[in-house]
Amino acid sequence: MRKKIVAGNWKMNKSYTDGISLFNEIIDGLSLAEHQCEKVILCTPYIHLQKVSELCKNHQTLSIAAQNCHSEIAGAYTGEISVSMIVSVGATYVLIGHSERRMYNAESNEILSKKVDAALGNQLKVIFCCGESLEIRNSGEYINYVNNQLESSLFHLTKEAFSNIVIAYEPIWAIGTGLTATKEQAQEMHQHIRTKLASGYGLEVANSTSILYGGSCNAQNAKELFSQVDVDGGLIGGAALKAADFLSIIQSF
Ligand code: PGA
Repeated sequence: MRKKIVAGNWKMNKSYTDGISLFNEIIDGLSLAEHQCEKVILCTPYIHLQKVSELCKNHQTLSIAAQNCHSEIAGAYTGEISVSMIVSVGATYVLIGHSERRMYNAESNEILSKKVDAALGNQLKVIFCCGESLEIRNSGEYINYVNNQLESSLFHLTKEAFSNIVIAYEPIWAIGTGLTATKEQAQEMHQHIRTKLASGYGLEVANSTSILYGGSCNAQNAKELFSQVDVDGGLIGGAALKAADFLSIIQSF
């Protein structure tokens, strides 16, 4: 069955020591908090991956993710990080296709498809991000646009591979803008994504794939968004940088 998940994306924030302090605050808070959240994933900068992976070993609900990986396994790619390097420091997930990487690093659907293969081929689970710009939303073409993102980067996979995929729907117009999709807008797209999975892979895959909402999700609006039938949790940016806010989002189910 699909899991209730809250993932925190720290993006390019926090020094090494500040990141470890935030992590420790989250761990302490989690052990005290009562919550229904089945998995918490922290997508930290690379510099934190090894330490936080060590620190979360005894915490079953916590997993660690990298925010990106290269599509090639190794080689002359100065400044890049491979999937096997990520696995070697203990992380178990990687974010692929975040809109900031699509936008600033020109990551195409084709490159993302290769990254997905590289990750799954190395036993790294994938949080795959999709979502439309405001222009596409206003044109009314947003469902087709997200369909195409999913088809191009995920629909070559086998049915079995989906047990290692989490999908995050993040409308670009809502990321970091304080503008959140309404619960109806979120539900419409999540339901669509689930229907798309069902038509490509059957009901079992559709009903066991977690679909997270991202885009200015915070301690105030998480409850309403998470109450939608096809919203299985959130991918949180800004509000993941403060332990109290992040913990309250975790308690929103
Ligand atoms: P935000 O970011 O919560 O700051 O809007 C979400 C994301 O980009 O994953």
